[in-house]
Amino acid sequence: MGSERKTVFWRSIAALVLALTASYNAWASASDEPSIGDGHARFVWETFARLNAPVEGCATEWECWMTREYLFETCEPEWEDALARDRQLMPLTQEESGVLDHARTKQLPLEEIERLQSSLEETLQDIRMNRRAFEWIDDHQLRLLEKWRGLYLKYCCESDYVLPRTEFTFGSMFVEASWKPIDSEQKDKYHTIEDPKLNGQLLGLVGLHLSSKIFPNWLWATWEHVDNPHRVEYGIMRDPLIPAQRYKIFVEHGLCQPDPEASEEDDGLKDCVWTNYELNGVQVSFMDRKGNPMVLSNSVFETSNPDSSCMSCHARSTIGAEDTHLELFRPRSLGLPDPSWFDGAPFPSKPFLQMDFVNFLRDVKTCEEICGDGSSHCVD
Ligand code: HEC
Repeated sequence: MGSERKTVFWRSIAALVLALTASYNAWASASDEPSIGDGHARFVWETFARLNAPVEGCATEWECWMTREYLFETCEPEWEDALARDRQLMPLTQEESGVLDHARTKQLPLEEIERLQSSLEETLQDIRMNRRAFEWIDDHQLRLLEKWRGLYLKYCCESDYVLPRTEFTFGSMFVEASWKPIDSEQKDKYHTIEDPKLNGQLLGLVGLHLSSKIFPNWLWATWEHVDNPHRVEYGIMRDPLIPAQRYKIFVEHGLCQPDPEASEEDDGLKDCVWTNYELNGVQVSFMDRKGNPMVLSNSVFETSNPDSSCMSCHARSTIGAEDTHLELFRPRSLGLPDPSWFDGAPFPSKPFLQMDFVNFLRDVKTCEEICGDGSSHCVD
């Protein structure tokens, strides 16, 4: 063996030993504490960095995506339309009754109920989709209630009917962002906006949900601002990436500026707002490897559902007879969906049709509601 080849050989052995030691250490320190896999954590942090990197015309990439409101209010939606990006913040209304239910079940003291309610009142959300998701919805007319009604009627009740693909294409993505008013002294710690519709009120990003169709049951991830006071009471997992590793990813994606003074050991907590966001977890299955239901939640979105799971609730995005939907909050959104929701009842033989995990599709409107009475767009 030549000396160069020998060196390469010994280097590979050393790399293998290091890799085995690292995985042994990871295994030895593994406990029952839920943890995000190393690969998943790196992948979603890279996705976070890519989605939050500035692009032409927008502070972040996802803020250039189409809003849910534009999709539902525009007769002929176009990806390039500047109005498609116009921020339209909405309160988290679907949680209101959930908080009261949660308070009753847990017998929470009055101050705690008031805290949850006021936290909901000040939270404003922003829901957006990427171009792939929009084009898929538009091509299949799935923003129209008539289309879903037609699909459902065939699915439920025609015995030889084969359902056409109602699954989004690979790479479709959605975000749900949550903003709260902050003081100007806190500005450097948050990704902020000043909303003209709220008299220029300064708002800070406090939570970010992501759903991404890269697996049949999607990939789910959620982040929170490190100062959210109740974060640790919600379903969170241990993040294997240390701040310096995340900082490196942020620098690589142009999210934070490299610090020429920084040493190797530096923990990377520089003046960069994005280092103030924590990953609560990643979900790709309903159950963990031991058969326990996965729990993943975010204190600013799942205010009344600390022990819930993204997939379990989103699997209930459905349409049934007479435009009904499955309940999202009862029974608690945890664990596997019940097959009898979708199949097996005597009539209709298939009670609910799934809307491929996209919850806002439950709010689809009729063509006339979107385009106006008698619109030529609505003639089939
Ligand atoms: C108990 C039900 C419930 C749980 C649990 C839940 N969501 Fe949602 N989610 C909703 C509803 C309802 C909407 C639609 C928004 C609205 O109506 O305000 C939504 C919207 C979203 C959207 C925008 C696209 C869409 O599907 O409408 C994303 C992304 C999202 N949620 C991600 C998550 C992630 C990530 C988790 C887990 C950490 C999660 N959600 C947990 C109910 C839930």
